[in-house]
Amino acid sequence: MSEPLIQTVNLHKTFPGTGRKEPPVSVLRGITLTVHRGEMVSIVGPSGSGKSTLLYCLSGLESYDSGSVRLAGHELAALRRGALASLRRRHIGFVFQSFNLIPSLTARENIALPARLARQRVDRKNVDRALLEVGLSDRERHRPGQLSGGQQQRVAIARVLALRPDIVFADEPTGSLDSATGADILRLLRASTGEGRSVVMVTHDLEAAALADRVLVLRDGAIHDELRRATPEQVLEAITVARATA
Ligand SMILES: Nc1ncnc2c1ncn2[C@@H]1O[C@H](COP(=O)(O)OP(=O)(O)O)[C@@H](O)[C@H]1O
Ligand SMILES: [Mg+2]
Repeated sequence: MSEPLIQTVNLHKTFPGTGRKEPPVSVLRGITLTVHRGEMVSIVGPSGSGKSTLLYCLSGLESYDSGSVRLAGHELAALRRGALASLRRRHIGFVFQSFNLIPSLTARENIALPARLARQRVDRKNVDRALLEVGLSDRERHRPGQLSGGQQQRVAIARVLALRPDIVFADEPTGSLDSATGADILRLLRASTGEGRSVVMVTHDLEAAALADRVLVLRDGAIHDELRRATPEQVLEAITVARATA
């Protein structure tokens, strides 16, 4: 089998406390996981269990204290800042709960922005294809304020897809959407796992979690359980057990 896209071994991360009243917080306590090409993996778990921190460490947005994170064959901790930024640009897209669009730019301009910022040639075809993939070809001239929440998240996803990343990370991508709109967004993320692309998503949504090939249940910074092709009911049960034994 080919090398996994992401491989972490015994990953640890502690946030330093800010004074005597606030002790250090041990957030990740020995995470070992792999994500293969083309896979969709959901991460669920109680609030504060370290889901976002894990996503940030896997994507090079946060440093880690010990253990290993290999992304497309590169150990992240061994990379200098410039090399890490370049690796991230080549391989990673990130979707946030809050869309993070630039209000003064149109949908098309928002989608083309990462390439412009990286001083790369903006490939119109990639932008067109991304707009088409998220079903917003007829909204390309609209600004975020003229779009619904679901449409804004589509623009944010198109902005990621236009870069043809190997991995899309998403932190609660449906957290500020109603459930029907959220379900559309999730189907879009699921559909984007073609062509060897992987999606790693943090979510509270049981249906969302169950769309994934694998669900990792986090508790207290450790992987408490792993489910394959789970039903929403099975995900709920695993989360309930993780809470009850926390
Ligand atoms: N920058 C930070 N500084 C200090 N503590 C943090 C920081 N980010 C997160 N934490 C703490 O780490 C723990 C896990 O946070 P997080 O990864 O955001 O959890 P989740 O996404 O599962 O809700 C929480 O106790 C949180 O307060
Ligand atoms: Mg979080």
